[in-house]
Amino acid sequence: MEQRSLGTTSILVSPVALGCWPIAGITTRDVNDTDSIATIRKAIEIGVNFLDTAYCYGVHGESENLIHRALEGQRREEVVIATKGGIHYDAAGKQVQDARPETLLSECDESLRRLGVDRVELYYLHAPQKDVPIEESAGAIGQLVESGKALSAGASNCSLEQLKTFHAVCPLAAVQLPYNMLQRDIERETIPWCIEQGISVTAYWPLMKGLLAGRLTDQSQIDETDSRRNYPMYQGEEWNRNQAFVARLRDIAAEAGRTVAQLVVNWTMNQPGVTAALCGAKRPWQIEETAAAMGWRLNSEQSAAIEQAIADRGPAAAKRLFT
Ligand SMILES: NC(=O)c1ccc[n+]([C@@H]2O[C@H](COP(=O)([O-])OP(=O)(O)OC[C@H]3O[C@@H](n4cnc5c(N)ncnc54)[C@H](OP(=O)(O)O)[C@@H]3O)[C@@H](O)[C@H]2O)c1
Repeated sequence: MEQRSLGTTSILVSPVALGCWPIAGITTRDVNDTDSIATIRKAIEIGVNFLDTAYCYGVHGESENLIHRALEGQRREEVVIATKGGIHYDAAGKQVQDARPETLLSECDESLRRLGVDRVELYYLHAPQKDVPIEESAGAIGQLVESGKALSAGASNCSLEQLKTFHAVCPLAAVQLPYNMLQRDIERETIPWCIEQGISVTAYWPLMKGLLAGRLTDQSQIDETDSRRNYPMYQGEEWNRNQAFVARLRDIAAEAGRTVAQLVVNWTMNQPGVTAALCGAKRPWQIEETAAAMGWRLNSEQSAAIEQAIADRGPAAAKRLFT
């Protein structure tokens, strides 16, 4: 199975990673423990060795706890676990950013306990906090690497300037940012800098939360309580334009003998500088489908047809969420 180096480390990751936000059950509907554990196990069984989670994936660490349960009886050394610190839920269930060093150090300890491991392969700052200098957050993550609780450091949701400052204090193995066919801002400056520095880019929202998986064709398929309804890309004219775009992808995918989701993830993970596409899933069949984006390449006609469809669609309205 295809694997790539994480930054300049010797850690090898699959270019399709399992995004473990949906199984936290906060924004995703119809989640249950049995399917979530089966999804993680299926991922590992089919060569997706890279699991992406965070301290705040679940009000009480549900995602990390489920990974712990799923890893029972599995070979730990075959799995690369990335988690993040710096965001938590308060007693009222509201998301709070806290990237102070003492918080990052204690959240990492709690994440290790929930995960049932003595170290993770990658520990990210989930998001910088306005009133905490990023040097201080980076210093704490550097301490986690020095102590062996994390094998490498990452940063998520940072501007390029913040990444540069972070990297000067604590060398980064990976940065995690939103990136997909219609949200390509980081191609301008951030990805080129990461390539120059030998830092991996891990792309979140490759499927635009399911929109680019090709199965959401009618808004009535999205529950009234589903938070995706709050995103501009799921509303009004943006929704219509996205549907027209997915229809173009469907033709290209059919010609390639792949599904839309496989075409989209394959394109994403093979863009310059991208090490892995973080594909969220709550059911085994979903990660089975996206994992089949590995092991093949688009030909030049297919790549050109995709670029033309993207250009005709134009960039999507963006909204960032720290999940
Ligand atoms: N650092 C950050 O701040 C941050 C922010 C966002 C995400 N992330 C990470 O990136 C990962 C990916 O983001 P995401 O999970 O929000 O979105 P995503 O990967 O773009 O989309 C995942 C959603 O797509 C649908 N899906 C997946 N496979 C499918 C398939 N084969 N066919 C049809 N639908 C399919 C599922 O939705 P339904 O089944 O519910 O329809 C799933 O929940 C997260 O899990 C997390 O690990 C990080």
